Amino acid sequence: MADASTRPEILQTGPMMPMIEAQLNEHFIVHRLDGPEAESVLEEAAPRIRAVATGVGSTAGAKRRVSTSLIAQLPKLEIVSNFGVGYDAVDVETAAQRGIIVTNTPGVLDDDVADLSVALMLSTIRQLPQAERHLRAGNWPKGGFPLTATLRDRSIGIVGMGRIGKAIAQRLVGFGRPIAYHSRRPASDVPYTHYPELMAMAHDVDVLIVIVPGGNETLHMINAEVLKALGPRGILINVARGSVVDEAALIAALQDGTIAAAGLDVYANEPNVPEALLALDNAVLLPHVASATHLTRNAMGQLVVDNLVAWFAGKPPLTPVPETPFRSTAS
Ligand code: NAP
Ligand code: 8YV
Repeated sequence: MADASTRPEILQTGPMMPMIEAQLNEHFIVHRLDGPEAESVLEEAAPRIRAVATGVGSTAGAKRRVSTSLIAQLPKLEIVSNFGVGYDAVDVETAAQRGIIVTNTPGVLDDDVADLSVALMLSTIRQLPQAERHLRAGNWPKGGFPLTATLRDRSIGIVGMGRIGKAIAQRLVGFGRPIAYHSRRPASDVPYTHYPELMAMAHDVDVLIVIVPGGNETLHMINAEVLKALGPRGILINVARGSVVDEAALIAALQDGTIAAAGLDVYANEPNVPEALLALDNAVLLPHVASATHLTRNAMGQLVVDNLVAWFAGKPPLTPVPETPFRSTAS
């Protein structure tokens, strides 16, 4: 452990995995925003804070945002290390204006998130949780589980063809169904049909898998019109962010048969899931677990630490986000 007087002071916005916390405490003086004395901790340490370690997690609220107002309270802030590839809980434009680097955890979670997305899609179409509930409730002797919809007569549209979208598509090729995707620009290295217009794709496919970043640009991108276009045979799978889907419109569409079913890993106001969604038997609901395996979460956690350690060793950050690229000052 470095001498306390030489360790940089950092802010941790909420609980993190023990392997992250142990390493942060080894390398840094850590001030925590999740204790009872958060306000006074911040007031006292703010002038010396040089980094923030954050991760919204599925039990966080707006409180843990690295907001414009939090950034404004930290005059010496140099870097924000975010646990998660999605960094919509960090006000990245504000960081960019101040020359603060934001890092995330890209790449290391693609395979687990893609595996989960495919599992959720099949669970939703074939009603696997409902079938299991039927068995556990002792209903099998009274009658078999009803027949379900199938992927066999469905085509798939992926909303977002980035790292994870590509990993999902790669897996879906094995299912032998047509694959299309929507993104603002066509991806150069994939053979699937590109739709520049989401509505046009929603009309043409039966399954929509959503895997775009959250934030203002994609807020309620999946709205009542898109759901109507997807239609009564339509299945919506959201593994992106709750903000991307208009949750009220989705609930209405599931209630009145505008679409057939939805599989969700993410919600508008996590960890709170609306009662109306919980009451729907045509929704398969997971508690934001797409990357939640030991292997992947450890790799993500290590990146959170390694970005900070590299930075304070005078090296470039490992995974800065595109809005805050690292520019060397060395000539
Ligand atoms: P990525 O590589 O940056 O890919 C993002 C894709 O979305 C790109 O194809 C991009 O293409 C497209 N996109 C961005 N903005 C768009 C817009 N306004 N309209 C249409 N398409 C848009 O990101 P990734 O690593 O695949 O991760 C994607 C997101 O998944 C993350 O940001 C995170 O929110 C979510 N995620 C969730 C979980 C979970 O636990 N459920 C786990 C990991 C990730 P264009 O720029 O050409 O439009
Ligand atoms: C994590 C995620 O569950 O990477 C992301 O963007 O949503 C997930 O991998 C989340 O970041 C945990 O805090």
